[in-house]
Amino acid sequence: MGVLTRQCPATLHRMVRCTACGEENSERARFCQACGTPLEASSGTRQERRVVSVLFVDLVGFTSKSEQLDPEDVRSFLTVYYERARAEIERFGGRVEKFIGDAVMAVFGAPVAFGDDPERAVRAAMAVRDSIADMDRADPLLELRVRAAVNTGEAIVELSARPDAGVAMVAGDVVNTASRLQSNAPINEVLVGEETYASTRTVIEYRPIEPIAAKGKTDPVRAWVAVAPLVEAGERVFSEVPLVGRDEELANLRSLWDMVSSEHRCSLVTVFGPAGIGKSRLAHELAHRATEMGGLAIRGRSAGYGDAGPYSAFAQHVAQIAGIDGDDPAAALEKLRTKAAALTVADDPNEVANAVAILAGFPVEGGAADREGLYFSARLFVEAVARVQPTMLVFEDIHFADPSLLDLVEFLASRVQDVPLLLVATSRPELLTSRASWGGGLLASSTISLGPLDEDDAVELTGKLFEQRGLDELKDRAASLAGSSDGNPLFIEELTASLAERSTRNASQLPGSIRGIVAARLDALPAPERTVVLDASVVGKVFWRGALERLRPDRDQELAGLLGSLERRDFIRREGSSQIKGDQQFTFKHGLIREVAYLTLPREERRRCHEVTAQYLEEVRLPAGDADATLAYHWREGGDPSNAVRYLLAAAEVAGRGWAKARAASLYTQALELVPETDEELRRTIVKKQAVATVAAFHVRDVERDRRREQAATDG
Ligand SMILES: Nc1ncnc2c1ncn2[C@@H]1O[C@H](COP(=O)(O)OP(=O)(O)O)[C@@H](O)[C@H]1O
Ligand SMILES: [Mg+2]
Repeated sequence: MGVLTRQCPATLHRMVRCTACGEENSERARFCQACGTPLEASSGTRQERRVVSVLFVDLVGFTSKSEQLDPEDVRSFLTVYYERARAEIERFGGRVEKFIGDAVMAVFGAPVAFGDDPERAVRAAMAVRDSIADMDRADPLLELRVRAAVNTGEAIVELSARPDAGVAMVAGDVVNTASRLQSNAPINEVLVGEETYASTRTVIEYRPIEPIAAKGKTDPVRAWVAVAPLVEAGERVFSEVPLVGRDEELANLRSLWDMVSSEHRCSLVTVFGPAGIGKSRLAHELAHRATEMGGLAIRGRSAGYGDAGPYSAFAQHVAQIAGIDGDDPAAALEKLRTKAAALTVADDPNEVANAVAILAGFPVEGGAADREGLYFSARLFVEAVARVQPTMLVFEDIHFADPSLLDLVEFLASRVQDVPLLLVATSRPELLTSRASWGGGLLASSTISLGPLDEDDAVELTGKLFEQRGLDELKDRAASLAGSSDGNPLFIEELTASLAERSTRNASQLPGSIRGIVAARLDALPAPERTVVLDASVVGKVFWRGALERLRPDRDQELAGLLGSLERRDFIRREGSSQIKGDQQFTFKHGLIREVAYLTLPREERRRCHEVTAQYLEEVRLPAGDADATLAYHWREGGDPSNAVRYLLAAAEVAGRGWAKARAASLYTQALELVPETDEELRRTIVKKQAVATVAAFHVRDVERDRRREQAATDG
């Protein structure tokens, strides 16, 4: 159904584009004039500003090669090539935007971000390259060579665009630069741009190359060649900073471990928290403790992408227990059988080993009659392991896990008996949306919910990271950096890293990695809730229900439910009292969520929301305080400078009367920036007031300094 409206620049008429075929129709059309699909009235934001990673792959010299080939052969080859490329790209969560001749363009991070989209794009690029190398080996006459590139940056994205209809989905310099990088890539290599490099260099090894002088670019484009992944897909390298805070959480986990190992019990604990909050780190600290005490701690994880089988995390446990590492299937099964026999898992260890091998996805002859039987064997195996020494199995990132793995973990947690076994799962809160019953009905199941680091801990962590990176001269900025991190240790690391490299990149910009992770959190929200967050982001850190109603009158009915749902998900909080009488007041719990939501809105939508907010706040008469400055801000961003000036002057008067002279001077300066050169009279008046306020501000400062000196003299 066609629902896409956009501004047509040439005529400024609103055009409705059919999402079925891409045809532009007049705003009044109800059916597409080309294909007859009904066109729906547009609703809500259809365009967003998003950080995307764009991948280009192109075959080298294939055009000239194809001259010598039969057209049917060219066609059938290209079909295979497209299919392979598409399969690899989709395996990593990307989306093919178009095939142009023998080039492929794909996008990661839109329409949905996963939070690690640049890494996925680079891995996908390497995978496409490798699969073409396979095709080349199969048919060396084709002489298949590729050039590939990935570039990351902000783009405008049409969310309901259909790439298969040939409709451009993303637009922006990031696309052009990706294409330039691609044409400059060394043969059979993947070249990446600066932002891609910055977001992935801890997980992918790179080799720098000379900056590329690209057509249409003033400065040469910096570029790196991707050499190889440094870690498994989706893994993160821990920083080497000592653990900060988390005393209580760690103490709880330790006493759980002590209980499990001394009383020979089985228990399941799930650590919940958003990305980067420190779940893996906490599990790691506990594992350290467990092994110190003679226990066995083994980690397995579910990845958000790639080829992993449904029980992949369990398969990783099994492999580590049986000492399997890159063995071929036959050798792996043999090792597993030997281990099962050594553990005397049951009367027939081979039977158990076979069942476990089936679960782990080893290619084994024959199958199992039912799932219960397989799970029972897994239980016997795990019990035998834990009988030898207290065991802790970590299941990382179970929000990515296949439901079957969740079933297996719950099965083990409910059936394993009389052995010391601690099952530790880590998960983002999203799990409870898809599996609300997780851990329910189990006798020995508990959860730990990891919140932000408290302020002191955040500042301490920042200080330690500064020290590590030799940023001691910036010490006084530690508190403010910690403050803008929302208490998320990963964000603190990323902000510090970006500060350390400020010479090459814009330090005031939110690091792309953080924007990606927060965008993924937003994208995990149901669409109506997400729209509320986007709207509220314009109103401010503090916002009111009334303003949201005004912004989108059509959702009046659901608003209470949506706000409740967002509060439950820990995005916002309703405050006990409200500055606006008779209206409900809310705040964003995390400044970064608001910031990223705001960045997502296209300019025109942002402007409209500011304008509506300004009108609303004017009507309800936000009580004194910063009301004038707030209104000035919304009018300015809402595209009404003269109203903005009016409020800036009012705010300056108030500040001046309260002897906040420096603030008054700054408000006059802001006002001046908005008054057109032609309005000489108003400019003169403001300049005069600004001068008076500035002089007074100096005076205030001098008086204050003298007062402090006198104070020091009397104290001393
Ligand atoms: N309490 C903490 N003290 C110091 N560093 C921490 C702490 N918690 C997490 N980190 C660091 O922050 C980064 C992200 O933590 P991680 O455990 O990977 O997050 P999660 O698994 O929740 O996504 C890691 O480098 C980790 O070492
Ligand atoms: Mg983790």
